[in-house]
Amino acid sequence: MIKLHDLYFKTFISEQELDATVQRMVDEIANDLQDEIPVFVGILNGSFMFVSDFVKKYPKPCEVTFIKLASYEGLKSTEDIQRLIGLTQDLSGRKVIILEDIIDSGNTLEEVHRIFKNEHVDELKIATLFAKPESYKKDFKLHYVGKEIPNKFIVGYGLDYNGLGRDLPAVYQLKTTQHMTNIVLFGPPGAGKGTQAEFLKDKYNLVHISTGDVFRYNIKNETALGMLAKSFMDKGELVPDQVTIDMLNAEVEKNAGAKGFIFDGFPRTNAQAKALDNLMDAKDSQIDAMIALEVDDEVLVGRLLERGKTSGRKDDADESIIRNRIIEYYNKTAILKDYYAAQYKYYGVDGVGSIDDITERLNAVIDKL
Ligand code: IMP
Ligand code: MG
Repeated sequence: MIKLHDLYFKTFISEQELDATVQRMVDEIANDLQDEIPVFVGILNGSFMFVSDFVKKYPKPCEVTFIKLASYEGLKSTEDIQRLIGLTQDLSGRKVIILEDIIDSGNTLEEVHRIFKNEHVDELKIATLFAKPESYKKDFKLHYVGKEIPNKFIVGYGLDYNGLGRDLPAVYQLKTTQHMTNIVLFGPPGAGKGTQAEFLKDKYNLVHISTGDVFRYNIKNETALGMLAKSFMDKGELVPDQVTIDMLNAEVEKNAGAKGFIFDGFPRTNAQAKALDNLMDAKDSQIDAMIALEVDDEVLVGRLLERGKTSGRKDDADESIIRNRIIEYYNKTAILKDYYAAQYKYYGVDGVGSIDDITERLNAVIDKL
């Protein structure tokens, strides 16, 4: 992922794919032109890299020239095309192939046709590396198209966002959701997850999604997903991951403008971790870290027994139940630790000390992400 000015872009088309695409266009055009010496006309600025690679690959003699037009402002195509440099040579009787980086609305192409209207060229053909069919509004034929792409803003390989990105050798696509920091928060019972989640939420403007709360909310409010989940629970069956993921998805969508999420209580299995990765991917985002609060068993037992004196929670009162919960936590999370460690996303944080000290340790991890 890259950042240009205020926006984030994700990898879209690799150098290898660009190279293969340009080669395919060269082959097709060279085959059509046979022994005719063409004039390739690049449309500056965006096409400079494409034209350069194209003519280097072109197997026969050719001429190259440029015209310079400007239409884009930021992320939008404008109607008003400026002719900055026009044709500087006589092209009458020649076979002309326009080399464009991208055809979007077709406004620029219309201007190109206007420029060539009285040039008496033998033939005018249009070759564009990229085309966005969903936004193309003109009737001019596009003779050669390298790749049709969705109507999303791209940069790289000559294309810019307000001046930046032209130098990139690959192509990147604007992320529809802007950058989020997403954390999976782990910790054995008594580690202080809830307390710390509250601080993180405020400091980083994150939304805390506790799977337990999400379940209770959906069931209590009898949402469609809640009823579905309940139907499995009533049969004594585990709720399928997809149902849980759909509930989390609804939470994520409810908070579309969030700076990120803290997932608490999910994932618990490898399959769930993968499903969560897919969900984040669909949102043009990612899980950045699994942060596990590490607390010694004896400290946990002490804390929970202490809490049990006032909380009234039965499972906090019995030492053997507490120890079992801790053992179960380690059994379950070991695989997830491996899952995230394999992606260099596992961070163990010492969860013993004052609340402030622990918060500071967590902040140090997140600030580095
Ligand atoms: P059109 O006039 O709307 O067809 O747009 C053509 C010109 O707009 C291209 O030559 C580019 O300079 C610019 N353009 C269109 N789409 C993009 C994009 O996704 N990224 C960067 N520039 C673009
Ligand atoms: Mg252009």
